[in-house]
Amino acid sequence: MTATTPAVPAASTVPQERRLSTPFPGPASRALLARRDGAVARGVGVMLPAFVARAGGGVLEDVDGNRLIDFGSGIAVTSVGNAAPEVVAAVQEQVAAFTHTCFMITPYEAYVAVCEELNRRTPGDHEKRSALFNSGAEAVENAVKIARSHTGRDSVVVFDHAYHGRTNLTMAMTAKNMPYKHGFGPFAGEIYRAPMSYPLHDGLSGEDAARRAISVIDKQVGADEVAALVVEPIQGEGGFVVPAPGFLPALAAYAREIGAVFVADEIQTGFCRTGDVFACEHETVVPDLVTTAKGIAGGLPLAGVTGRAEVMDAPHVGGLGGTYGGNPVTCAAALAAMRTMDALDLAARAREIEAVMVPRLRELAARFPAIREVRGRGAMLAVELADPATVEPAAGLTGAVSKHCHGEGLVTLTCGTYGNVLRFLPPLVIPRTLLDEGLDILEGAFAATA
Ligand SMILES: Cc1ncc(COP(=O)(O)O)c(C=O)c1O
Repeated sequence: MTATTPAVPAASTVPQERRLSTPFPGPASRALLARRDGAVARGVGVMLPAFVARAGGGVLEDVDGNRLIDFGSGIAVTSVGNAAPEVVAAVQEQVAAFTHTCFMITPYEAYVAVCEELNRRTPGDHEKRSALFNSGAEAVENAVKIARSHTGRDSVVVFDHAYHGRTNLTMAMTAKNMPYKHGFGPFAGEIYRAPMSYPLHDGLSGEDAARRAISVIDKQVGADEVAALVVEPIQGEGGFVVPAPGFLPALAAYAREIGAVFVADEIQTGFCRTGDVFACEHETVVPDLVTTAKGIAGGLPLAGVTGRAEVMDAPHVGGLGGTYGGNPVTCAAALAAMRTMDALDLAARAREIEAVMVPRLRELAARFPAIREVRGRGAMLAVELADPATVEPAAGLTGAVSKHCHGEGLVTLTCGTYGNVLRFLPPLVIPRTLLDEGLDILEGAFAATA
């Protein structure tokens, strides 16, 4: 990654440079915010009130002409960049040909081609099948349906700090109450939570953390009752928690032993984000099922469940599907996004981003004692903040640093059960110059607030 070469062949017409041309947010965004307040349900929050007019590569341009550096990728979605040229061309061609038939009524090739790609790209060389859906939560719901159908069992094991979505079943699977679950129960039953490996907080090896989780499952759920273990290989909303080495392989082995389906929720980690095509590959874990969404289609809403043919084929004919799942426009986008991942070797680019960002984040950690840990892999990186004296989670400081970045035109996101994790998810095509500038802004934000 050189300082001058842009990462992508001119991804879009949006200049790849930060620009703050009005006080932020500008007047046009403020006017839209007022309209939003009168029209949009308040439950749909807005983190950074810059209404976007266009976007490309590593830049979001708002309606006032401000250009923001994107360290969020719309929550790990636009890995190939916003409006990536091949995605745009494929969508335009497909939308002009036909927009929808419903694959379950009259099928089309692109759905089959996406399933073939998912079968080929996900870990393991066993016989696989895939099914397509609209959102990550829907993919997780379907993975549970498939696992229950295959095993004839009910119980689903999830982990502390997990995030799997906002539908009724996935709210039950998600750990954090506020804002995801508060007031929205009762939730689906037969969901059991086991302790996650969280090295900063538990100090356990992966094997010991797995033993602890397995003991909870054995004693509180009963091994014979478990249909599925569902785990994020690196947790997303829960705080970019990277389990200690050995945790995931031990859980996968345990699932095999007890006849449960091991589901890797790769919705946030998938499609090159962590420096491998899928995060499970890091420890050569081969899940029975993989759920995908987010980075799959360059920003169009598509999700998938992929896995062992005998597991995937357990539900009866007609048992899986939905009106829009695997819509032809989203499938065309996904095929183009995957071609782009290959052409630009985006897994390697994620590793290059890590090589640039981690040393800078470690320098910050050395300078600002509130940073307790720098963690993550590839272009899925985070810092966890705590009060240096009490080691209490520093959610207020995390919010303040993030807000300061927003004011300087850098999109950063927070996460974590305790709200004290700042996470970085730049598009994998972000030019090096923007990466460096974003890190400078982050440093300034810590200097101003920490
Ligand atoms: C690991 C994981 N699973 C599931 C979901 C839910 O995906 P969606 O928001 O597309 O429903 C998310 C979203 O953040 C996620 O990170």
